[in-house]
Amino acid sequence: MQEIKFYSGENIPLELHKVRIVQKLNLVPIERRLEALYEGGFNTFRLSTLDVFLDMLTDSGTNAMSDNQLAAMMQADDAYAGSQSFIRLQKAVEDVLGKKLLLPVHQGRAAENIISTAYIKKGSLVPMNYHFTTAMAHITQNGGKIAELLYDEAYVINSDHPFKGNMNIEKLEETIKHHGANNIPFIRMEASTNLIGGQPFSIQNLRDVRAMADKYGIRLVLDASLLGENAYLVLKREEEFKDSNMGEIIKIMTGMADLVYFSARKLSSSRGGGMCTDNMTIYKELEALVPLYEGFLTYGGISIREIEAMAVGLYETLDESMICQSPSFIKYLVDHLDEKGIPVIKPAGVLGAHVDAMQFCAHIPQTEYPAGALASALFLISGVRGMERGSISNQRDEYGNETYADMELLRLAVPRRVFTLSQIKYVEDRLNWLYDNRLLIGGLRFVYEPPVLRFFMGGLEPTTNWPQILMAKFKEDFGESL
Ligand code: F0G
Repeated sequence: MQEIKFYSGENIPLELHKVRIVQKLNLVPIERRLEALYEGGFNTFRLSTLDVFLDMLTDSGTNAMSDNQLAAMMQADDAYAGSQSFIRLQKAVEDVLGKKLLLPVHQGRAAENIISTAYIKKGSLVPMNYHFTTAMAHITQNGGKIAELLYDEAYVINSDHPFKGNMNIEKLEETIKHHGANNIPFIRMEASTNLIGGQPFSIQNLRDVRAMADKYGIRLVLDASLLGENAYLVLKREEEFKDSNMGEIIKIMTGMADLVYFSARKLSSSRGGGMCTDNMTIYKELEALVPLYEGFLTYGGISIREIEAMAVGLYETLDESMICQSPSFIKYLVDHLDEKGIPVIKPAGVLGAHVDAMQFCAHIPQTEYPAGALASALFLISGVRGMERGSISNQRDEYGNETYADMELLRLAVPRRVFTLSQIKYVEDRLNWLYDNRLLIGGLRFVYEPPVLRFFMGGLEPTTNWPQILMAKFKEDFGESL
């Protein structure tokens, strides 16, 4: 895709789409936002969209759909079994992901449930570049453990390493030798490693992981939920592939995995999910669990309309002008925040901008959840809803002890083609103000902690009256402005 330059010399990510359906947003007064925080237990998952201005919680199921996706939904073949919509999806998966055998599931974690149920037992260990919350929860629920094998560079916030999602190959071999290949049902590679700031791995790294999997006879599973953006960054950052196209890169990546699974809520801007392979043994090992947990094999718990949208959305991931939209807006935001000295994960990755709460709120100890506090504070002063990706999102260890996250991040998701540049500038503006007033932000503590995936519905409270103090300062500086 050719670069579009501005005469002014400004670096602006120009939208290559037009907006034809819109949804009205509300920006409620700060007093209401404060009430909403108390009602929602200082947990942004529990806010109502009536109180949210810019919803940067996630890109999951919130990417804008295209006219072609919506049109395809109208020709759905609703049938319990043998639907033609599924045949179209199968073809899209084969054309785009290069795998012939497809098992549909209702979303990404349903694939994780089935894969873990089939392969994990007590004593199993799954090496991975980094965990994702639901992937880890399913492995541990089935009695297994995970080993996270990133290079040290991945944890350096202010870095320019192009592939922080790479798996540490030396550590991988050590781990296999130490635990024994027999106890390792699969190696998991996550494209655009979510929890370290949406950071990609390189194709060269995937080749090295594949070689190790072959050497020890271990399956390689690819979490392809954010594969499109990982492929886009390979195109931009890996010299060998600078003249390739999206389709070639995606197929090279999926071609190295024995089993590929994905959340279609991300990958194809729809709903649903899937697992695909060319290996009939793997297909058979997983097949029986789909009707048990999901639905019949030609819908897997997904609405047939969404299956049509998924098929079209998969083809659209090959369009660089579509797939670049979210990463280029993220880069714009990250670069501007960085210019102002606000600590953000660099280089800009995919999914969203990630603010380093450990530095932003250096005065809040990890025991008081700085990333959760920052997410609450930003919502209070702007109506922007981000997501805590730090210790609140971590699970307790097997003895019930708190485990503190490697990184305390506030994630500000930028779903594909949803926001305008002035909205992104608003986020930048309010974060600048918050940074200047950061010492007014205080900590949080749990008042209700669910036993599994606690971050979704957990309830917290501020440790002091800092939200009231922050609101007073906002009103002093902004007067009657919302
Ligand atoms: N794998 C990755 C890398 C993900 O980012 C997600 C979801 C899943 C698996 C699970 O998929 O939600 O369809 O069940 N990530 C969302 C997020 C929830 O906000 O980052 P799911």
